[in-house]
Amino acid sequence: MNLQWYPGHMTKAKRAMQEDIRLIDVVIELVDARIPVSSKNPDIERMVNNKSRILLLNKSDMADPEFTSHWISYYEKKGYLALAVNARKKNDLKQVNVKIQEACKAKIERDRKRGIKNRPVRAMIVGIPNVGKSTFINSFAGKACAKTGNRPGVTRGRQWIRLNRQVELLDTPGILWPKFEDPVVGQHLALIGSIKDELVQSVELALLLIEFLTKNCPGILQEKYLIEEAAEPADILRQLAENRGCIQKGNEPDYEKAAFLLLDDFRNARLGRITIEKPIEDEE
Ligand code: G4P
Repeated sequence: MNLQWYPGHMTKAKRAMQEDIRLIDVVIELVDARIPVSSKNPDIERMVNNKSRILLLNKSDMADPEFTSHWISYYEKKGYLALAVNARKKNDLKQVNVKIQEACKAKIERDRKRGIKNRPVRAMIVGIPNVGKSTFINSFAGKACAKTGNRPGVTRGRQWIRLNRQVELLDTPGILWPKFEDPVVGQHLALIGSIKDELVQSVELALLLIEFLTKNCPGILQEKYLIEEAAEPADILRQLAENRGCIQKGNEPDYEKAAFLLLDDFRNARLGRITIEKPIEDEE
């Protein structure tokens, strides 16, 4: 499966983001904890340049916790302050404040030496579509935070949200684009549901998922759908269709319906907390 996806407005978005990045002290990048490589845009490294960086492995409630902690060490070794979060849970996000202070220690110290006290650090959220940016901003900023109003130098329409005495957050996230040169990236994004389903061949994708699950999470499909796993992926999908009543005219299995059912269960963590991308051992 070879997926290509590059919305034309991304060039404009990139330019706007580069302008915003000049105004901030710390970039908070969100990735999906189930695919922490494919959901990360490598170009951000160059754009962010000398700013402090925090990496949040979001949707960690759907990822395997053991792999998530491996990924945290992996990214920490690469110079990030990394944290696993669930953007839907406000309480999970308290630690993010601690990380922001840690990331901006040098700036706060510089300000202090210059006699500037209590100048809030400015943060911005970035990430590819569907990674949870809006959910994060809503939970993190909450209702209590008043917007501070327009400031000179900020792209018109942009506002800062005062989170507390120490932090201001740009209210609009920076949208990054996934890197599609490697077809595996497209497949992984499609598996977690980050690419519109009409662009994806669902049966082909479901077969890929079956192949992945039988290899990496043996027993899961057997337990959930009462099927015999020691079979070819297409035969497993046929069994699933039959066991779940996905049957079309002529008493034939409805592969498409079965594929949707399986993908939907997987995307909503009804098959358990599964991480698709594993950290490479020798890079750790
Ligand atoms: P974006 O701004 O980066 O494009 O993403 P957005 O916040 O719209 O989130 C995309 C989907 O992911 C939303 O679900 C959101 O609720 C869900 N989501 C975000 N963070 C988390 C998380 O940490 N854990 C889980 N389980 N889900 C998360 P949706 O189905 O599109 O909408 P809805 O269910 O919120 O109505």
